[in-house]
Amino acid sequence: MKLFDVYSCYDINLVNGKGMKLSDDKGNQYLDFYGGHGVISIGHSHPHYMFRIENQLHCLGFYSNAVKNELQEKLACKLGQLSGYDEYNLFLCNSGAEANENALKIASFHNQKSKVISIKGAFHGRTGGALSITDNPKLSSEFNAKHNVVFIEMNDTEGMLKELEAGDVSAVIIEGIQGVNGVFEPSVDFLKATKSACEQNGALLILDEIQSGFGRSGKFFAHQYSGVKPDIITTAKGMGNGFPIAGVLISPEIKSWKGMLGTTFGGNHLACAASLAVLETIEEEKLLSNSVEIGKYLIEKLKDNKAIKAIRGKGLMIGIDIENMSEIRTKLLKEHGIFTGSSGQNTLRLLPPLSITKEEADQFIEAFNCVLASTCAA
Ligand SMILES: Cc1ncc(COP(=O)(O)O)c(C=O)c1O
Repeated sequence: MKLFDVYSCYDINLVNGKGMKLSDDKGNQYLDFYGGHGVISIGHSHPHYMFRIENQLHCLGFYSNAVKNELQEKLACKLGQLSGYDEYNLFLCNSGAEANENALKIASFHNQKSKVISIKGAFHGRTGGALSITDNPKLSSEFNAKHNVVFIEMNDTEGMLKELEAGDVSAVIIEGIQGVNGVFEPSVDFLKATKSACEQNGALLILDEIQSGFGRSGKFFAHQYSGVKPDIITTAKGMGNGFPIAGVLISPEIKSWKGMLGTTFGGNHLACAASLAVLETIEEEKLLSNSVEIGKYLIEKLKDNKAIKAIRGKGLMIGIDIENMSEIRTKLLKEHGIFTGSSGQNTLRLLPPLSITKEEADQFIEAFNCVLASTCAA
């Protein structure tokens, strides 16, 4: 059997990872400024992560939600403590898209409405509902395109209030920081005005923190820079450091009922052990402040390079606008062994593990300046 050919990927067979470093089957070394798409939060093969998962595997790898799972309660408790959302309730699932599907469904169950407001350029995943709120028609099949969704510009407060005034909106969904669209943030005023208009018009505010959450922005969730409390928050990527796990944090105002949601694999024993290890490491190694510190350092050191048109982001979610981005990205990988991400045509996206050191940041800065000099001189 062959693989269904849907990914354009590098012909590199990675076989080892440690912290920020990766190596392939030919012995080539790499530095991971991509974090496997923002997933690696505490670093590859972190000893505490390996200990927790291995230990759990010796006890019990999996049982379904037909039985009580104390690890889920421990995870909810730790997540509540570190995120500051102690009073919220947690539903565990397996991927970002699934978390968003559940968030939309919870909102619709709660207020019995179906219309959703999403933001232009948004990416929320590739399942039916998640695709309908994603602003990219190329990804959407006829089957997914039937939902009642309107897209408004990021930070268009007037447009948002006008849409909400009709009173027929179930939910507004906004990324904590837009990732796929080029690292763009909702403004504090926009989030505040949207939240209060949601309250007035019986809609729920969902913050998609799938990429920007779990410390990536330097706060536990990126929207916490605004002081706004959403009704629902979705999280995934960094939550398991590579082990598939996702969560929906739900305001206590929203009531559950037996059978309302469900999943076979969601919140299984191994996944909970992985995520607990992530949270314990974030706390123990103070990775939120490291994210702020190294993120600021990178921006400070890079911003004066004349070849950079714009640089933005929070913590370790950084977008750099440059001409010939794709060529620069390839050179970083081929000539310097550095993985980076991209957004759109012109934005290089940095999503390194939160455990990155200053020395590793310096390695990137040196390589990046060198590539920019050779590309711009050519
Ligand atoms: C903001 C955001 N939401 C949702 C998703 C979908 O997550 P998953 O690929 O785990 O379904 C992504 C993935 O890149 C994302 O960046």
